[in-house]
Amino acid sequence: MLSVRNLKYDVVDEDQGEVGIIHDISMEVPDGQFVVITGPNGGGKSSLAKCIAGVYQPTGGQILFEDQDITSMSITDRAKLGISFAFQQPVRFKGIEVFDLLKLASGDKQLSVGSACQYLSEVGLCAKDYINREVDASLSGGELKRIEIASVLARKSRLSIFDEPEAGIDLWSFSNLIKAFEKIKRETNGSIVIISHQERILEIADTIIVIEKGRVKASGSREEILPGLLGTESAYPSCRQGSQNEDESDCLPDNAGGMADFLKGGLE
Ligand SMILES: Nc1ncnc2c1ncn2[C@@H]1O[C@H](COP(=O)(O)OP(=O)(O)OP(=O)(O)O)[C@@H](O)[C@H]1O
Ligand SMILES: [Mg+2]
Repeated sequence: MLSVRNLKYDVVDEDQGEVGIIHDISMEVPDGQFVVITGPNGGGKSSLAKCIAGVYQPTGGQILFEDQDITSMSITDRAKLGISFAFQQPVRFKGIEVFDLLKLASGDKQLSVGSACQYLSEVGLCAKDYINREVDASLSGGELKRIEIASVLARKSRLSIFDEPEAGIDLWSFSNLIKAFEKIKRETNGSIVIISHQERILEIADTIIVIEKGRVKASGSREEILPGLLGTESAYPSCRQGSQNEDESDCLPDNAGGMADFLKGGLE
């Protein structure tokens, strides 16, 4: 369904000049697959998702969606083809009510209140409290995040991309969210890409891709990749924080194992 080939994304920084964010990423999302992208903070996951959704224009490489080259296509045209994207930090829409947003997302101007409420309850929101709320600054971060996820669910796109859907979501709603993802996996033949650090989301992946420093560090089935990731999630981020080293993996403890092995190239 989706094929990313040798993707590059550079930005021009006032002080540093051209900075490479994504160096050379190739990946495939087959039809009907549930792909989870994970890896350390700042590795380039959100930038990759934004290149796929059309928010960022890549500086090199190619993106094919159902065999069509979409590399230079606008966000709107990609959305029309069937790609939807839920941001890590969702956008607020002053003046638009939650019900309007769900109607827009579903493409059904006649969407019933009942169907809209169904989408909201799937992300753990009590529909009657939210359906007529404005999608503005009065919503909390977690509420806004869940409403955005509900709108992507309503779209039923061929390819849905969620950037850290768990961010800011409480434990109770998180369980609902996992159920919603499992339901989409069972009931649609579309593909889902989720960027996540959460074990429970990694556990329902068909394929896991680890992105680090703008490259694919590891990629394979859940059975191949997950065991190497578990148990050490705290080792890397705390070490990386504030590090000035070019090769930050030097600061990993010798016995970190798991995620640390990825970072030291142990699984290459
Ligand atoms: N417009 C930009 N200008 C400068 N640097 C940028 C820009 N966009 C992203 N970056 C940098 O690129 C790197 C990758 O960012 P990105 O948001 O893609 O990471 P991520 O893997 O999603 O991280 P996280 O897990 O924290 O969400 C980071 O170091 C970030 O600071
Ligand atoms: Mg991110």
